[in-house]
Amino acid sequence: MLQINPDLTDLVADASTGLFNRLQSKATITAAAPGRVNLIGEHIDYCDGFVMPFAIDRYIVIAGCANGTSQARITDHTFPEVVTLDLSQPQETGTPKWSNYLRGVIRGFQDRGHHVPGFDAFILSSVPGGAGLSSSAALECATATFLEGLLDTRLDTREKALLCQKAEHDFAHVPCGIMDQFASAFGKVNRLVLIDCQSGEPELVPFENPDFTVLISNTMVHHELSDGGYAARRKHTEDGLIVLRKPSWRDVTMDDVQNHWHELGNPVNRRARHVVSEIARTIGRAGGVIGARMTGGGFGGSTVTLCESRQASEIAATLSKEYQKATGITPQIFASRPSQGAHLVK
Ligand code: GLA
Repeated sequence: MLQINPDLTDLVADASTGLFNRLQSKATITAAAPGRVNLIGEHIDYCDGFVMPFAIDRYIVIAGCANGTSQARITDHTFPEVVTLDLSQPQETGTPKWSNYLRGVIRGFQDRGHHVPGFDAFILSSVPGGAGLSSSAALECATATFLEGLLDTRLDTREKALLCQKAEHDFAHVPCGIMDQFASAFGKVNRLVLIDCQSGEPELVPFENPDFTVLISNTMVHHELSDGGYAARRKHTEDGLIVLRKPSWRDVTMDDVQNHWHELGNPVNRRARHVVSEIARTIGRAGGVIGARMTGGGFGGSTVTLCESRQASEIAATLSKEYQKATGITPQIFASRPSQGAHLVK
């Protein structure tokens, strides 16, 4: 019932083979960056709240090499096309859609004065796409890490995450907060990434106890943040703050929300209630399950269940059975411990 996470070493070897088969190139630089799951704090990273994601044991791997030209040739295991980018120019958005994550990150390096030389690259992923597990942040962070290898330079981790966030804003047109890119860039084995989104400071919190497991269940309901729903939701919170005349959501209390309920109007008042309660929220325990919820941006995607390890298989089986009964859909369920964030693979 529980899916096995593919081994990163195997992914790296397969990416290298893919590069050779598709582009006849030999990998000299390989970068890996993970997806993320969030335990608590949804839709409050752009409201100065606290969020607690971690990097999962599912990665996007980019294997490649310099090609001695001023062009990038990029291909992905799931798509047949080879995308060619002219690196002598500042990157702009283009097609196919997935290439925009790479274009946006390359542009971030170009804007910092880096001359990005020609390269060949092959992309391989074990992060399920459209599952709310931040495959886009993983692709951005893997690209940034790959470019660090190519340019033989290292960005400050925070700057790298912010560069990737800007790529998402400008090239994928999703006005996301900082959570996903921070989780993918700062993630560490056995550590949750607690982020104070007001100060922008991540704190690594130990999650080592083997008695606890995090189950991730992909509902198979495709999650899409670039269709306007996410942007509308973010706009509601900005409108709410104006009505409440507060500088930050961290200064808003539930009384403020109740006192302005009608003035805020629907749905801004409901968004306001969510933001304030989510910032303050604690979770309770029941029957092997310590807490369960949707994770990430919503609009489809995955759920996250913090549970006792000895009951993990049983809980996964029940989840799967009940979800199938209710919807007719078979979910994909796997467990993940906090894993290493974006890094170059030796
Ligand atoms: C998406 C965004 C994040 C965050 C979550 C919701 O994953 O990229 O910045 O807003 O949704 O918590």
